[in-house]
Amino acid sequence: MPYAHITGWGMAAPEGVMTNDDIAKIVDTNDQWIRERTGIRERRIAGASDFTSTLGVEASIKALKVANVRPTDIDLIICSTSTPEYMFPATACLIQDQLGATKAGAFDLLAACTGFIYALNMGAQAIRSGSVKTALIIGSETLSRFVNWKDRNTCILFGDGAGAFVLQASERPGGVLSAVMHSDGSGGDLLTLPAGGSHAPATESTVHEGLHCIRMDGKEVFRFATRVMASATLEALDAAGLKVEDIKWIVPHQANIRIIEAAARGLKLPMDRFIVNLDRYGNTSTASIPIAMVEAIEKGQIKEGEKLVMVGFGAGLTWGALAAEWTGPLPSKGHVRPEQYRRLGRVRSLVRRAIRFIEGLLYRREL
Ligand code: UT7
Repeated sequence: MPYAHITGWGMAAPEGVMTNDDIAKIVDTNDQWIRERTGIRERRIAGASDFTSTLGVEASIKALKVANVRPTDIDLIICSTSTPEYMFPATACLIQDQLGATKAGAFDLLAACTGFIYALNMGAQAIRSGSVKTALIIGSETLSRFVNWKDRNTCILFGDGAGAFVLQASERPGGVLSAVMHSDGSGGDLLTLPAGGSHAPATESTVHEGLHCIRMDGKEVFRFATRVMASATLEALDAAGLKVEDIKWIVPHQANIRIIEAAARGLKLPMDRFIVNLDRYGNTSTASIPIAMVEAIEKGQIKEGEKLVMVGFGAGLTWGALAAEWTGPLPSKGHVRPEQYRRLGRVRSLVRRAIRFIEGLLYRREL
């Protein structure tokens, strides 16, 4: 059975920075409260030309470069997101088109902030089964578009960004070692975006009441998070036949420093074993774990041969953890330039639209 190795990684964050002081100009809050209660100092906010797909594409191109993999070699694209560009088509298909990943199947996965762990596990399982050789796993969010900028309980927390991993099959042991996924829909109302779906389609009154924005019972989500972070980590380790002492790093969902500190206490590990960058990005939901991973790899913190656990929780409720051995890119030939495929992909996309238009005219004439 092939192993699923993480062979490429990349991240993208919008240029716009919003500091705590900037938020204090909008709602009744202050830098000290936000830093002390969450650990967040600033977050990135999508500009007018940033979208969930464009951030995902930028992160993916970097990941493909690291892995030295052509977009045309990707078999499967999974985009984990809670802020898709449309109800449908899937944001994964927009990314497939922009990358020029001509032979890839593509779909979105919604497991909120736990989504990247779910998606990475699904991609790894597809590789382990032998049906897929190369998968692109993306976590991308533009949460700022769904934040209620009058609600100080939520608007201080969230930020925008994307991370992407390339997964490839290899006979060499390593890569994704185990994963656990959990859910408890009875807590669905604790963190929700109530309107805009089929339950409460958009109407003047849903918009007026702000039901198209994130709503959260922060205290309850906090309590739930502190309960599950350590237990999910231990479960994933157990499934991989590992002990806490065997792993070098924990990469937690970046929601609140106090939640990460509680997980550290639960696992009896010092904080320096946890990768933390929420001070600069806030909570980017499903993108937070890959963004933290990419920064840590690029800083030389996470090194080849080290074992780690990624662990997350979020709306749903969902939670989960994934154990992996970091092995780096597989040996490959030549020098791939994924951005060239992106340019060609644009031309290809235009040609396909033109062909569909002409076919449409001919078909109508035949009727
Ligand atoms: O990806 C998953 C997403 N969600 C989470 O991870 C959220 C988990 N929850 C949290 O991180 C925390 O519950 C929050 C950061 C949201 C809130 O922190 P807290 O320590 O639970 O604060 P609290 O809700 O208990 O509020 C304490 C006080 C209240 O004032 P009173 O009633 O004690 O007078 C709030 O009104 O702080 C007040 N408060 C604020 N003050 C200044 C709440 N938000 C703010 C604010 N600035 N932004």
